[in-house]
Amino acid sequence: MRTQVGIIGAGPAGLLLSHLLHLRGISSVVLEKRGREYVERRVRAGVLEQGTVDTLVEAGVGARLLREGLPHRGIELRYGGQGHRIAFEKLVPGRSITVYGQQEVVKDLIAARLEAGGDVRFEIEDVAVHSLEAEPYLTFGGERLDCDVIAGCDGFHGVSRPSIPPGVLRLFERDYPFAWLGILARVAPSSEELIYARTERGFALHSMRSPTVSRFYLQVPPDATVAEWPDERIWDELKARLETVPGFVLDTGEIFDKGVTPMRAFVAEPMQYGRLYLAGDAAHIVPPTGAKGLNLAVADVRVLTEALDRFFATGSADLLDAYSESCLKRVWRAQHFSWWMTTLLHTFDSDDDYGRRLQLSYLDYVTSSESAATTLAENYVGLP
Ligand code: FAD
Ligand code: DHB
Repeated sequence: MRTQVGIIGAGPAGLLLSHLLHLRGISSVVLEKRGREYVERRVRAGVLEQGTVDTLVEAGVGARLLREGLPHRGIELRYGGQGHRIAFEKLVPGRSITVYGQQEVVKDLIAARLEAGGDVRFEIEDVAVHSLEAEPYLTFGGERLDCDVIAGCDGFHGVSRPSIPPGVLRLFERDYPFAWLGILARVAPSSEELIYARTERGFALHSMRSPTVSRFYLQVPPDATVAEWPDERIWDELKARLETVPGFVLDTGEIFDKGVTPMRAFVAEPMQYGRLYLAGDAAHIVPPTGAKGLNLAVADVRVLTEALDRFFATGSADLLDAYSESCLKRVWRAQHFSWWMTTLLHTFDSDDDYGRRLQLSYLDYVTSSESAATTLAENYVGLP
């Protein structure tokens, strides 16, 4: 078997890459470890930057997103008994975000790939990467797939990054001393906009998926388990962290999804080796407070598509050679913003009273200075 681009992983990065390549007449095969139902049900991100929405719409996979996605023109920072709106329409005119579940993006991309006769294979558990320096190929289930190029889109725990020889990559890492417990609940959102709440009990985030489904996150200890968080405890804690401004009441409902995500930052440099190119979480992860992970994956794939198009059309590898460098500027901007939002809004056990005062003072600055608020807004909605 032979294809131009062998893609490992059917997350947003791998599926979008396969779709964009198809639009340029470039063939690919996507190999995914999990089943289709699993990847379509995996609940994760929800905030799409304008650039991500534009990419999906231009690629012809944005019809449902435009119909069902929720456009947002601001977010609220809530702390010290008050809410403060960061107004995108005023601070970054014409730029906004759209709330639309990552698994909906994944469903739309899988449907588009299958409709176009794309080769997406699920439940392929034993993918191995070979001969990255020249004539690369993938093996799985006794089969061999020869490729011109391999795209490692298999997330943080995938096989592509570890297949790069030792000593090639420089790794940058930071673990945070907490995790996020995320839930989905059948209840109308209690707020029109996302609320990022900083309290002495820890951080909480009120997000949403639709007029009838709300999404919430709670800062929890790093070793927390879902079993320790029965529904009643979750609602009590969400109320304690969100019902902190006069008149705000949090409506509750049936919780139908729960998960704990560790908070971690990671970058592998360079994002390529030989004929292997890493995209999305395979190359970098950010703590989710800045809502950047999915958006970075889409940005990588845009750059990689252009580079592959040039390579297959002209034989020139100049854009491919520059792939990592082209991506890393945005990656590090997102790393910094995600670190900044995380430090601004979470409680750290190591913080003393002095540290807590500094955090509150910084929040006051961000919510009262137009230039500081603009810094937050332009990073949140995403660089062009
Ligand atoms: P993944 O989605 O991880 O996809 C990788 C795929 O590869 C998976 O399907 C996996 O099963 C498959 N795979 C792994 N190993 C193998 C193998 N050996 N062989 C074959 N296939 C393999 N980002 C945002 O932009 N905005 C947000 O609001 C946001 N919120 C988040 C909230 C949470 C709770 C979490 C966990 C993440 C959030 N993120 C957010 C981050 C975002 O979900 C990720 O950055 C995004 O999923 C990255 O996409 P990807 O395709 O690179 O990787
Ligand atoms: C969501 C996730 C995030 O990480 C974030 O910062 C905002 C919203 C969400 O899943 O809706």
